Amino acid sequence: MIDVILGLQWGDEGKGKIVDYFAPRYDMIARFQGGPNAGHTLYVNDKKVVLHQIPSGIFHEQSINLIGNGVVLDPVTFKKECETVKSFGIDYYRNLYIAQRTHIILPTHRALDKASEISKGNEKIGSTLKGIGPAYMDKTGRNGLRVGDLLDKNFKAHYTSLRQKHQKLLDGLHFEEDVSAMEEEFFEALEFMRDFKIVAGEYFINEKLSQGKKVLAEGAQGSMLDVDFGTFPFVTSSNTISAGVCTGLGVAPQHIREVIGVTKAYCTRVGGGPFPTELENETGDRLRKAGSEFGATTGRPRRCGWIDLVALRYACMINGVTKLVMTKADVLDDFEKLSMCTKYRIAGLESEEVPFQMLQQPIEPVLSTFEGWKKDITTIKDIHSLPEEMKTYISFIDSYLKVNVSYISNGPGRDQLIEKQ
Ligand code: GDP
Ligand code: IMO
Ligand code: MG
Repeated sequence: MIDVILGLQWGDEGKGKIVDYFAPRYDMIARFQGGPNAGHTLYVNDKKVVLHQIPSGIFHEQSINLIGNGVVLDPVTFKKECETVKSFGIDYYRNLYIAQRTHIILPTHRALDKASEISKGNEKIGSTLKGIGPAYMDKTGRNGLRVGDLLDKNFKAHYTSLRQKHQKLLDGLHFEEDVSAMEEEFFEALEFMRDFKIVAGEYFINEKLSQGKKVLAEGAQGSMLDVDFGTFPFVTSSNTISAGVCTGLGVAPQHIREVIGVTKAYCTRVGGGPFPTELENETGDRLRKAGSEFGATTGRPRRCGWIDLVALRYACMINGVTKLVMTKADVLDDFEKLSMCTKYRIAGLESEEVPFQMLQQPIEPVLSTFEGWKKDITTIKDIHSLPEEMKTYISFIDSYLKVNVSYISNGPGRDQLIEKQ
């Protein structure tokens, strides 16, 4: 049986904390897509850790952690992250596995990401510059190198040939940074990776499933950044939605049980692209400050706005969400009034659907306004003690989405999660 935890907005919904919280209930935690563009924050012994490549179950000794084939893996980031994990006394060799079909991010992928963004000028995606797009392009373009290739004696020759291809592209884009400076640590990190358990991920996970083991699939990014269903072209290059679990791990859909969608009580986005409920005003600044909304990977300020129920209902539909987790509810503690977007108004017409194009015509969010609860909720432990205004806010979301908020996160800490049912 597989349960999935994934983001329903534009990423940074608090997936890392939620995966870490649920991890003890599972035998295996598996990442199925994305790469070091992800930044998943958790607190271990009250110390903050941000994971980019390693699944968020790594701090639980009993759980196996798998980096699935759908991930793109940067060896340099991976090695650094292993060192961080080790500083918490975790023996990463023991319970961390890498699927052999996982594609490797090369230094030239990072350079290409940068060169491509520069060439786009004002139209840039606002990518994390981690090489995600170019690495997935080499996967679908059938050029990429995979972790399993490390065991091939011709690896270096394949690497050199791909690097040369990349260099031609970089020259075409007039990109002049010297990539060879990044190669030394890249090759060191590849050596480091060889000692890991590199497995046929699809057989590995299916064997565990047939033994009755429970798997938690950890999504990265968010549904509105999905390459097919997100706000294209302002998206990432993988399928972030629940369908990505099957291709990203090599499992059949009937294994999937719960799809747990994570949403903030409001909404953020980092990078370019449409964001109908964005507040480019003092209220947006207040949200950013109260929620410490600065990117966990790039440190960039996150754009902030009200919760967008039109986009959320779309995300619930595409993912088949069975349960909702609402995070960062405490961030709204001091607000007198709260709003939610229930419709989009485009060229005078109201709609409850996410349109194909979100930038050609301005989208005006139709807002419903609610009373704020004006109370510190960070120490509340049970659902009954939540303020009435907050119950009203949440029950409106439940009825609009036709999926219930089952958990409310009221702080970044491990123990700050209230179960509703
Ligand atoms: P992820 O990418 O979805 O794992 O989310 P990030 O780690 O990028 O961003 C979420 C941020 O919010 C992190 O700094 C978390 O520590 C923090 N966080 C998570 N849940 C809560 C919550 O309920 N309340 C508050 N105040 N912060 C939270
Ligand atoms: P987590 O897992 C928020 C955004 C980037 C950019 C776009 C494309 O922490 O939620 P990419 O580097 O993937 O080519 O960038 O997607 N983005 C994220 N935004 N959280 C993330 O991950 C993100 N990963 C990518 O800012 O707009
Ligand atoms: Mg993040």
